[in-house]
Amino acid sequence: MAHLTLKQILKDAQKKHYAIGQFNFSTLEQLRGILAAAQKMKSPVILGTSEGESKFLGLKETIALVEISKVKYQIPAFLNLDHGKDLKWIKQAIDYGYPAVHFDGSGLALEENIKYAKEIVEYAHKKGVLVEGELGYLRGKSGLHKKITRIRKKDLTSPQEVIRFTKETKVDSLAIAIGNIHGIYSRMPKLDFARLKEIREKTNSFLVLHGGSGISNKGIKKAVKFGIVKVNINTELRLVWKNSLENYFKRKPQEIKPYKILTQVQIAIQKKVEEKLELFGSKNCRYFT
Ligand code: G3H
Ligand code: ZN
Repeated sequence: MAHLTLKQILKDAQKKHYAIGQFNFSTLEQLRGILAAAQKMKSPVILGTSEGESKFLGLKETIALVEISKVKYQIPAFLNLDHGKDLKWIKQAIDYGYPAVHFDGSGLALEENIKYAKEIVEYAHKKGVLVEGELGYLRGKSGLHKKITRIRKKDLTSPQEVIRFTKETKVDSLAIAIGNIHGIYSRMPKLDFARLKEIREKTNSFLVLHGGSGISNKGIKKAVKFGIVKVNINTELRLVWKNSLENYFKRKPQEIKPYKILTQVQIAIQKKVEEKLELFGSKNCRYFT
């Protein structure tokens, strides 16, 4: 297997109009499910850990787990610190060896977002680490929600601000808000493809679609066609994790061996990730030859 960098892989995705999946994890059976799917589908994969997930696992343990697993599964897999807001924590992740980080300054005023994104980029690029910035206000949390959070037009990424933000910060990737939302809702909002097209015309940064859970397959396909090269999925995997555990205990309430129970969870996660990799068009990647 050729050893390509994440940047080379994202460039290839940009050129050939497919997307790399980022799947979040915080437990070993989740990680194994994701990697087993990537291995089966011959697809590169990004492994996301939010601040909460990485604090639960520990930055060093996360890196060690991924490094040893990459040897086992023999696939291009890259860790990304997802939605980093704490500059100290992001810098620590870079120091410990994360190959990619996401600085989420979307809650800040534009000037501040630019200032801190720039600081992280300067720090990260010295060590060859990729940085994802974020522009626009992405609502919601990675969970199940009954009521839809109203997305206002002013929440969406402004194509004009994209020019300034990417030029001044020099981020490698950009998370955008085009109607996407974190979590699953009874009614999912519509994506603004005209805005995506306009953003794509204004920057060569790798465009990232957060809140991938719950978006229809048609919506994801269209977003990838229009220039999205990274899709983040968390809620759908969390749901599979919970449902597969509950189903297991319903079927076998007496079972107490964690390795037996969690094998079923791992298999269920693998299946869901395989579906997503198929959808994103990243399978049968040439990096395996
Ligand atoms: O950063 C993580 C993703 O944006 C997850 O979004 O929970 O809606 O899949 P999701
Ligand atoms: Zn996100």
